Amino acid sequence: MSRIVFLNGSFLPIEEAKVPFMDRGFLFGDGVYEGIAILDGHLVDNDAHLERLERSLREVRIPNPYTRAEWTRLEEEIARRNGMTEGFIYFQVTRGVAERDFMFPENTAPTVAMFTQAKAIVNAPAAEKGIAVITVPDQRWSRRDIKSINLLAQVLAKQAAKEAGAQEAWMVQDGFVTEGGSSSGFIVTKEGRIVVRPLSNAILPGITRKSLLALSQDAGIELEERLFTVEEAYDAAEAFMTSASTFVLPIVSIDGRSIGDGKPGPITKKLREIYIRMASSPRMAAE
Ligand SMILES: Cc1ncc(COP(=O)(O)O)c(C=O)c1O
Repeated sequence: MSRIVFLNGSFLPIEEAKVPFMDRGFLFGDGVYEGIAILDGHLVDNDAHLERLERSLREVRIPNPYTRAEWTRLEEEIARRNGMTEGFIYFQVTRGVAERDFMFPENTAPTVAMFTQAKAIVNAPAAEKGIAVITVPDQRWSRRDIKSINLLAQVLAKQAAKEAGAQEAWMVQDGFVTEGGSSSGFIVTKEGRIVVRPLSNAILPGITRKSLLALSQDAGIELEERLFTVEEAYDAAEAFMTSASTFVLPIVSIDGRSIGDGKPGPITKKLREIYIRMASSPRMAAE
């Protein structure tokens, strides 16, 4: 079956999906995006992802081409057309096509592109073994709360991680961890409390982070929303990351130092289980 993508109102084979040369996404990185998991055929945390998309678009003043119901229909339709029941749906909106000039063009329709990536999220080997992380300086702009398609700093950070034999980079500013290249970062203290950086312009408001915090409260796990240093992370009992495409993944080393006993920790495992249970439930995931 040919891979079907969505571009500007049409579903079509990926080979036929062409974006014009003068698209502002290509020339300026002038656009925003979203990424959402699909599990057992249903969208995980869909409303929260669409709410964040609406906010990103508003913040960069790109008109939102679709209502929430229309976005949802497109997501469901692209998953259906690709026969995908578990994986990731990516969608982005750019300011559209216009002669290159910095200021917003007038009367230009946004470019909307969407594709799927089939992926085993629940049975990912990284969830069993845990992953290695390195720390790198956070070189991004000051509006990291917007899910911008400008990802050059993350491309460099994650490539540095790969070259060091790691699977994620934790970005660091003034000695404090901001977040992962494409994930939210957490540690667990020796007393069993989760520590996560509070929301601000310094990090993306992760949707998986948000759901997990609610679920961890229900499970009676204590939480501290505060900054944490790289040294505190080295010394933590456990560390983990969250993202829509991985859910909850244990981190077993940071900069080559083992975290805890160097194996996925019990609180991380429990949180992953709880999250998967929520994500597998059509009722909760649809809320
Ligand atoms: C920089 C950054 N932080 C955090 C996340 C996790 O966000 P979510 O849980 O909404 O996928 C992502 C996901 O792409 C990201 O790019």
